[in-house]
Amino acid sequence: MENTEAKKIVLSAIQPTGTPTLGNYLGALRNWKNMADDNECFYAVADLHSLTVRPEPKLLRQRTKEMYALLLALGLDPERNTVFVQSHVNAHAQLAWILDCYTQFGEAARMTQFKDKSEKHPEIVNVGLFAYPTLMAADILLYQTDFVPIGADQSQHLEITRDIAERFNTLYGDTFKMPEPFIGKKGAKVMSLQDPTKKMSKSDTNVKGFISVLDEPDVIVRKIKSAVTDSEARVYYGEGKDGVNNLMTIYACCTGKSFDEIEQEFEGKGYGDFKAAVAESVVEELRPLQTEFARLIADKAYLEDCMKLGADKASYFANKTLRKAMKKVGLYSVK
Ligand code: TYM
Repeated sequence: MENTEAKKIVLSAIQPTGTPTLGNYLGALRNWKNMADDNECFYAVADLHSLTVRPEPKLLRQRTKEMYALLLALGLDPERNTVFVQSHVNAHAQLAWILDCYTQFGEAARMTQFKDKSEKHPEIVNVGLFAYPTLMAADILLYQTDFVPIGADQSQHLEITRDIAERFNTLYGDTFKMPEPFIGKKGAKVMSLQDPTKKMSKSDTNVKGFISVLDEPDVIVRKIKSAVTDSEARVYYGEGKDGVNNLMTIYACCTGKSFDEIEQEFEGKGYGDFKAAVAESVVEELRPLQTEFARLIADKAYLEDCMKLGADKASYFANKTLRKAMKKVGLYSVK
């Protein structure tokens, strides 16, 4: 029999705000898959988080289903791993409210993502956007999580999660486990192909800046061909070579080659050859995911069965922690 006791608990989530990019994939999703066999994993579609940008309801529903199918398409086994939709597990919103009351206004206001988003979109600065990190903290703390596989941009949210957990534990005794971020050595911050000083993002208005994991091979080739590089025409990793550094990172992630090996491979060759090889490696890396996604998205009944199974399993674990936290803060319960 499997020894589930000794397994580490892993949790992560992704917002259904659009098809994931190569950045989401290399920074997070690929690690989700790699951690799935040896750990007790909880992976969620963070639909509640995406309400902060008030998506069109029909589109949100569709994207939630697509994101869920994509997670299974990674090769996650819905029987072994718990793959669920965040809003299907009530405990998330409930614990988030409790944590709101144990989070200082000032510490939430310091979050870089909140500051960036509210500057960029002053018309949608809502309370949800402000409280975003406490909902994320609830996601993580509900499962007594050991590791949270994320890209570098989420590390500040992990820090605030730890601060909140520590404050709560100090006040009420051990309630939450202290989670650790798991950030991959390469690919933790994949940059935009058009402006390699900015992170690749699915909400980029310039579609040439990002590769979506469902882009057709010829689209991937075109986007990588038009990626911004420099005028030196030499492939090596170095300062002032943000575009090339980014492509080298992508290539390294997709082929498993080191930067030294890549430099040798393209010695004496120009960016044309290099870009063609990068594009090819991305196409090959994404091919199984795309094939599996096409199969799964056509099977709504299966997806919904898996969603229900995931929600039941997640609720079982989450409610245990929720009950504990509710009791600790003094919420009245009747047997
Ligand atoms: P989201 O949906 O923006 O992104 C999902 C994951 O992808 C990573 N990522 C990247 N990694 C490398 N390079 C990039 N260019 C890049 N862009 C995105 C993100 O770091 C993330 O790991 N708040 C989270 C979702 C969330 C969550 C959670 C995560 C909700 N609850 C609990 C972990 C634990 C978010 O918006 O990720």
